[in-house]
Amino acid sequence: MDKQIDAEGLIDASRHLWSNYFPDREPDKRPKVLVRGEGLYVYDSEGKRYLDTFASLLTTLCGHGRKEVIDAVKNQMENLSYFPGGFDYITEPAVRLGERLAQITPGDLSVSFLVNDGSEASEAAIKMAREYFHVKGEKGRKKVIFRRASYHGATLGALSATGLSGMRAAQDPLIPGFTHVMPANCFRCELGLEPETCALACLKNLEAIVAWEGPENVAAIIMDPIPGSNTGFPPPPEGYLQGVRELCDKHGILLIFDEIQVGFGRTGKMFCCENWDVTPDIMAVAKGFSGGYLPLGAAISTEAIAAAFHEAKEGFRHVHTYSGHAAACAAALANIDIIQGEGLVERAAELGRFFKSHLSDLYKHEAVGDVRGMGTLWAVDLVADRKTRTDRKPPGKMGGLISKYCRDAGMILRNNGDILVIAPALVMTDDQAEEMIGVLDEAIAAAMVPGAIEGE
Ligand SMILES: Cc1ncc(COP(=O)(O)O)c(C=O)c1O
Repeated sequence: MDKQIDAEGLIDASRHLWSNYFPDREPDKRPKVLVRGEGLYVYDSEGKRYLDTFASLLTTLCGHGRKEVIDAVKNQMENLSYFPGGFDYITEPAVRLGERLAQITPGDLSVSFLVNDGSEASEAAIKMAREYFHVKGEKGRKKVIFRRASYHGATLGALSATGLSGMRAAQDPLIPGFTHVMPANCFRCELGLEPETCALACLKNLEAIVAWEGPENVAAIIMDPIPGSNTGFPPPPEGYLQGVRELCDKHGILLIFDEIQVGFGRTGKMFCCENWDVTPDIMAVAKGFSGGYLPLGAAISTEAIAAAFHEAKEGFRHVHTYSGHAAACAAALANIDIIQGEGLVERAAELGRFFKSHLSDLYKHEAVGDVRGMGTLWAVDLVADRKTRTDRKPPGKMGGLISKYCRDAGMILRNNGDILVIAPALVMTDDQAEEMIGVLDEAIAAAMVPGAIEGE
């Protein structure tokens, strides 16, 4: 039985909270009060059920209400809620988690620096790269190269490496020494090129910028192997990630992969970069890492990076009181147990095949310009003209309408403007997958009825 909630009173009282997401609340728009979650569903205070196709902002990979995770957290809380690790004391969940990450991450990645969320994981990864060269005596190597259109976080360092101008504008100028290059997005290539004939112009752009900055000054290149929901998961062109790895190796630059959205089985491999057999020097993880149960992230480095700090008798200076919280680590361990124990990486690959075949039916709607993705990360990109790939006008209206239609129909669908994002939990059943695609199909059809969109 759900607890009775005074929803209207709660909504009024919410004026005492900053909205964590922008734009700020519209005064006449009444948010739903969510009170409960189970599997892929969340329930509002009126008892309405929603199928969440965005997994609570890409976190709840194993679904809501998993007893195994809740019991692990409860058990840890009852024994020892928290004690900071790293001085003369350690706690079991943090150490076991580091050990587990060393087992499941690719290549030489084997030493984890635990943090509290995704922004801090990117922040720590960038700082770790710069500090690595500092302790090795290459004190001039501080520059960081990032890609336009990729998001790496909200803290100043992570934001300085974020290529979304709308997010940067209010904080500009950001940290000096951060330089952007073009994204590797074949559907929306900045140069208007096609992958068959472009000769990897995006990689050439990166090579040129590294040369311009002076490779000996560049500490790190940071990128997401598949950029996230903001740009609808554009896959890298063949050979691009391998080329980036070779470029870094040639110049001794550290490669950071942001696997915050795409790690832990999402793409049908435990980590996204395994799809191309390319391993970074530092990998940032968060979101699905703890399954949405408690905040947690990590910057996972190679043994060689950690060894450089040990040899210099230096620690990595990035102290946050709650880093490696024992209860959050217990949640992550239980979450990874479920992912491995229930074969959810393989399930994500299977769902990916299902989505590929069923989502392509949506091309019957003229507005659908591209359907792309892998595993449980997919995007339906709406355009004004499929051939020319022109953006819709007014931008975002059709995406917003489709999302609203889904919400009324009991389904949470994330739209980033006119990009519809499909990123459900790995435990989605076949029936739920069919239901999701059915509602999406209806919603697109409804939005395409002439006159449905004001101003079109
Ligand atoms: C790719 C990527 N990197 C970093 C972040 C920042 O993570 P967090 O919101 O947990 O700080 C996000 C969050 O959306 C993300 O998608």
